[in-house]
Amino acid sequence: MSRTRVAILISGSGSNMVTLAKDMASPDHPGEVALVAANKDAPGLAKAEAMGLKTTLIPHKGRPKAEFEAALDEALRYAGAEVICLAGFMRVLSPEFVARWEGRILNIHPSLLPLFKGLDTHARALDSGMAVHGCTVHGVTAALDDGPIYGQAVVPVHPGDTPDTLAERLLPREHELYPAVLRRFLAGNTAPLPLL
Ligand code: GRF
Repeated sequence: MSRTRVAILISGSGSNMVTLAKDMASPDHPGEVALVAANKDAPGLAKAEAMGLKTTLIPHKGRPKAEFEAALDEALRYAGAEVICLAGFMRVLSPEFVARWEGRILNIHPSLLPLFKGLDTHARALDSGMAVHGCTVHGVTAALDDGPIYGQAVVPVHPGDTPDTLAERLLPREHELYPAVLRRFLAGNTAPLPLL
């Protein structure tokens, strides 16, 4: 049985990319890594290369968004990508790009959506006095952080937490959630997965 070809887009450390790629190294996984692409010289690119994965750097800086996205789209299609996983990818994709891939783009967002869309989610969760925080894997649509929820993982907020301590507690839960959701998604199961 052929495996679904998955592209992973990163902008930074790529820790979620590493966990997704490691999981797809299992022969029982329905997907395989087609490409790891970054919009800048992200530390995650070296990690992907060390894992023997195909990588590409497509700079976004200093070029029109449409040109950047056309180059990205070409690289994805050349690699035979069928599904895209955004993993610490910090560029907002245009509605036109999303429309070409809609239904086949996943993202991990570090909050319990629909709470705290956008940036600085850990600080905002702390400021709101939440007793719990978490992360969400969702389908990407034209609206930012707004698509169907495919899974969520929860962490407690501890007294004295800072955004950094909260992010540090959450990241391992992201690494549990995203691979589990991707396996289900590729098997056609889009029911939201709760990791409590
Ligand atoms: C993570 O908090 C993730 O939720 C967000 O970017 C952060 C870094 O992710 N999207 P990674 O280590 O680059 O995967």
